[in-house]
Amino acid sequence: MDVKGSDDTRTQETNGGRSSMWGGRFAAGPAAVMERINASIDFDKRLYRQDIAGSKAHCRMLMETGILSRDDGEAILAGLDQVLQEIIDGRFTFSTALEDIHMNVEARLREIIGPAAGRLHTARSRNDQVATDFKLWTRDAVDMLDDRMAAVQAALIAQAEAHADAVMPGFTHLQCAQPVTFGHHMLAYVEMFGRDRGRLRDARARLNECPLGAAALAGTGFPIDRAMTAGLLGFDRPAANSLDAVSDRDFAIEVMAAASLCAVHLSRLAEELVIWTSAQFGFVSLSDRFTTGSSIMPQKRNPDAAELVRAKTGRVIGHLNGLLIVMKGLPLAYSKDMQEDKEPLFETVDTLELCLAAMAGMIADLTVNRERLAAAAGAGFSTATDIADWLVREVGMPFRDAHHATGAIVKLAEDKGVGLEDLSLADLQSVEPRLTADLRLDPAGSAAARTSLGGTAPDRVREACAAARRRFLEGETAP
Ligand code: ARG
Repeated sequence: MDVKGSDDTRTQETNGGRSSMWGGRFAAGPAAVMERINASIDFDKRLYRQDIAGSKAHCRMLMETGILSRDDGEAILAGLDQVLQEIIDGRFTFSTALEDIHMNVEARLREIIGPAAGRLHTARSRNDQVATDFKLWTRDAVDMLDDRMAAVQAALIAQAEAHADAVMPGFTHLQCAQPVTFGHHMLAYVEMFGRDRGRLRDARARLNECPLGAAALAGTGFPIDRAMTAGLLGFDRPAANSLDAVSDRDFAIEVMAAASLCAVHLSRLAEELVIWTSAQFGFVSLSDRFTTGSSIMPQKRNPDAAELVRAKTGRVIGHLNGLLIVMKGLPLAYSKDMQEDKEPLFETVDTLELCLAAMAGMIADLTVNRERLAAAAGAGFSTATDIADWLVREVGMPFRDAHHATGAIVKLAEDKGVGLEDLSLADLQSVEPRLTADLRLDPAGSAAARTSLGGTAPDRVREACAAARRRFLEGETAP
């Protein structure tokens, strides 16, 4: 395609080829490819609600401060309501020549109410406008994601309550380590998602300062009331520095960082589901609603949703990297580079929302194979630490010596090809004569003995479930 700017590649849509919004000093319109690279309307139309809310707040403030007449102000407010309704009804025609959501809305406002529409942009720039719109959108997204994370926590807590005493292998290095309970394992993830929600809460508090009134970069000579617009839009206060207000995209990056960490948590849980649903483990089954079959292997039940949750983490982390790289070289204040902030955040929020919903469904529907878990819990000499602990407690051995003696017992069992619980008292005493028949080795007892704060004993898990409900689902502020 020839893109050298011959006349037929220039657009003719607005004002004889010039943008009516900024074309005063231009003799010709942009090349078609310029329009393509410049326009953001295809994605930033998603900000229409925030854009119109921001414009209405700005208009009210201009009226209150006497910068705008009552009549013009009322006409603008009514016109903006009409534009909003047209967009909601799908009757609005978005134009690429008008670049972005801000100019699309304003151009339509002008068609509806006439030249008074041009007064709305007094004491404002698209730079403070877009920063405001995007913060408002991000704030809503944070609140939505918080709800979705709470739903995952609710599903995990319900499984934890149902299986507080289901003993299973606990792993380190994916090697059998010590018996734990399934409820305890679920509650570990509840804590992770609790921290994810905390990070979103922190980001929300920090982002809630209003850029409006920073204008292009330097503020304005009009007697505006920034506290008023901030208040009308639910911000805690106006942003303090006009240069920073239009250049700051920390809020998007912070939310993407919090989203990335949440995606990592989801991915780890997804990975466990993939492992646990394999025939070799068989710890849990996913429901028909969250699995697929194979067109060639009739026996297959594939954990596709879990695999996709695991994979989509890559996108979320990629978008975080992408925006960090967009921002890192930008001098103050606004640069058009910053228009590239929206797609990554939109896609991050959409992806995380989808993954959270899929995970909540998978966990809620999960069937736990308690027999299989119990059988596996004793494998891999998982009660070895209990022998060492017994020697410390009952014989008064230093733990390091007890550990050494137990190692020899494990070796003996290994050589005989049996589990620790299958060794006779004579076998045990051949290694350490002070061992007695009082030593009981069973995975359930092992888990039940771990009653320390935050430990895996079923009673502790039941208490922790109740506490998690209070902390995360019933509004008690998390510590
Ligand atoms: N569409 C632009 C963006 O998303 C709006 C701000 C444009 N400002 C400007 N000076 N060109 O960043």
